Amino acid sequence: MNIAVYPGSFDPLTNGHLDILKRAASLFDYVIVGVLINNNKKCLFSPEERVDMINETIQDLENVRVMHFNGLLVDFCDKVGAKAIIRGLRAVSDYEYEVQMFAANYQLNSNVETVFLMSQLKYSYLSSSAVKEIAFYNGNISEMVPPIIEEQIKKRINK
Ligand code: PNS
Repeated sequence: MNIAVYPGSFDPLTNGHLDILKRAASLFDYVIVGVLINNNKKCLFSPEERVDMINETIQDLENVRVMHFNGLLVDFCDKVGAKAIIRGLRAVSDYEYEVQMFAANYQLNSNVETVFLMSQLKYSYLSSSAVKEIAFYNGNISEMVPPIIEEQIKKRINK
């Protein structure tokens, strides 16, 4: 079975992430969304909350599962039997960071390939940080995140 991991912070998942996830799910037998437990980063949502929100969003995707992980991504891939890492590329500015990550992961485990999918142009400006900032200043994020996630962001920011 061809299993891929789609890793990220997903704080929160955006429509751009969701688009990449759906396209990856059409290419692989199984896609596991790997939500990083990142203690160094100040996140709006806990890893458990992020997993729950993504789970609610992807109910119609039968070959997708969501898990959180700690430590090295390639170790997580090994643990779940994944041979591929999916990453979305938005603009040239993503390239340097992604090349570094690819190189590190490939050095650590060359049995795991990184597969890059280009973001659709309409999502090329979209990031989790932009969504949080816009929401913080009461901007409209309804086109940027799934409705379930929009609701949770508004609840969290208005606390
Ligand atoms: O959505 P993000 O924050 O750009 O995702 C980054 C992520 C989670 C893919 C990356 O930080 C990661 O893989 N972290 C796990 C630690 C690791 O394996 N590091 C070595 C590769 S740089």
